[in-house]
Amino acid sequence: MQAFTRIFGSGFVTGETLVPNERMSKVCDTSDEWIRERSGIQERYFVNEGTATSDLAVGAAKKALADANVKAEEIDYIVVATMTPDYYFPGLGSLVQSKLGLGHIPALDIRQQCSGFVYGLQVCDALIRAGQAKRLLFIGAEIHSGFMPFSKKGWDVVMGRSNEAISQEERDWNSKFRHLLVLFGDAAGAVVMGPTDDPQRGLLGFSLHSDGKNPEALYVPSAGFAYRPYFSEEHVREGRFVPVMDGRNVFKMAVTRMPEAVLEVCAKAGVKLDDINLLIPHQANLRISEGVQKALKLPDDRVYNNIQRYGNTTAATIPIAYDECRKAGRIKKGDLVCFVGLGAGYHWGATLMRE
Ligand code: ACO
Repeated sequence: MQAFTRIFGSGFVTGETLVPNERMSKVCDTSDEWIRERSGIQERYFVNEGTATSDLAVGAAKKALADANVKAEEIDYIVVATMTPDYYFPGLGSLVQSKLGLGHIPALDIRQQCSGFVYGLQVCDALIRAGQAKRLLFIGAEIHSGFMPFSKKGWDVVMGRSNEAISQEERDWNSKFRHLLVLFGDAAGAVVMGPTDDPQRGLLGFSLHSDGKNPEALYVPSAGFAYRPYFSEEHVREGRFVPVMDGRNVFKMAVTRMPEAVLEVCAKAGVKLDDINLLIPHQANLRISEGVQKALKLPDDRVYNNIQRYGNTTAATIPIAYDECRKAGRIKKGDLVCFVGLGAGYHWGATLMRE
C-alpha cells in the first residue's frame, strides 16, 4: 500500500504544574500505592488557573511547526481533537487559528475523545489526499482539571501552594469521584502534516469503529442538550460536571477492541504484526496497555508507554508519545509505527504509518 501523507514535525506541552500522586491523596481517599498499582500513573501536570485548552494547543503547535521547519503562515488547514474545548461552542480550531495569528484558513474540531487522534489522522489524510491542504496542523489538546470537583482551598493543596488540610466534608465529596480524578492530566501534542513524494513513507491505513449503544459507560451527565436548561445549579450540586465512568467496562472494551483494531489495520495494509516496530497505544491506563501488549504477544521494546509521567491526556496522549519516541530515536526513518486507541462513545481504531 502506498502512502500519500506524512508527518513532518511534532511537539508537545503540558500544564505548568507537576502534581505527584501523593498530592492527590491530600484531597481524597487515595494513595500513591493504589494509583500506581491500578493505573501505573506516578504524576500528572495540571494547568495554572487562567490557562485554557487553546493555550496548550498553541504551545504544542509552535513546537511542531519549529520541528517541521514550517512557518505558521504556511499552514492552510487546522484540525483539533479535544473533548475539553475552551467553550461549549465555538470549537477550539478557530480559537487556535486566531491565537497563532493565521489567516482565514479552515479550522475543524474532532470530537472522538480518547480515539480523537487516530480518527483525526484519517480526516487529515483524506483532506490532504483530496488536495484541500498542503501544510496541515493537527493538534490533540485537553485540560481535564476543569472536571475536578475541588474547592479553591483544595486546588491550593493539589497545586502545592498550601499544606492546610481540607475539611472531612470536602474530602468525602472529592472521594466520590476518586477512581476518575487520579487518572487524568492536562497537555497538548501537535503534528504538521502534508503530502509526500516518497510513497514508502507516511500513513498507510486505518481501521476505525464506533459502538454508540452504551454511551453512559463513559460520559459527562450534564452540560448537554438532553437537559433543559443544558446546565443547571442542580448539575453542579450533584457533581454531574465530573465524568461518569464504568471503569471495568472501559477496561474490558479497551483490552478487546484495541488488539482487534491493530490486527485489522495490519490485514488491510497487507503487513504482518511482526513487521510493526513500535506500537503506541492511547495512554488510558498502564494496565490497559499491558493487556493490549499481552493479547498481541508483543515484546516490551515494541510497545511505548509514558502514562507514568503524564496521566491520561485523552486526545494528546498519542502525539506526545510519538514526539518523545521520534526525538529519543525510538522511531527511526522507515520504521512501521501503529497508533491505537479507544475512548468514550465508544470509538476506537488503529492507524499504521511508515516513518
Ligand atoms: N484510590 C483508592 N481506592 C480506590 C480509588 C482510588 N483512587 N478508586 C477506587 N478505589 C477503590 C474502590 O472504591 C474499590 O473499593 P472496594 O473494593 O472497597 O469497593 C476498589 O478500589 C476497587 O475499585 P474498582 O473500581 O473495582 O477498581 P478497578 O480495579 O476496576 O480499577 C480503574 C479502577 C483503575 C478505574 C479501572 O477500572 C480502569 O483502569 N478502568 C479503565 C478506565 C480508564 O482507563 N479510563 C480512562 C479514561 S477512558 C480511556 O481513556 C479509554
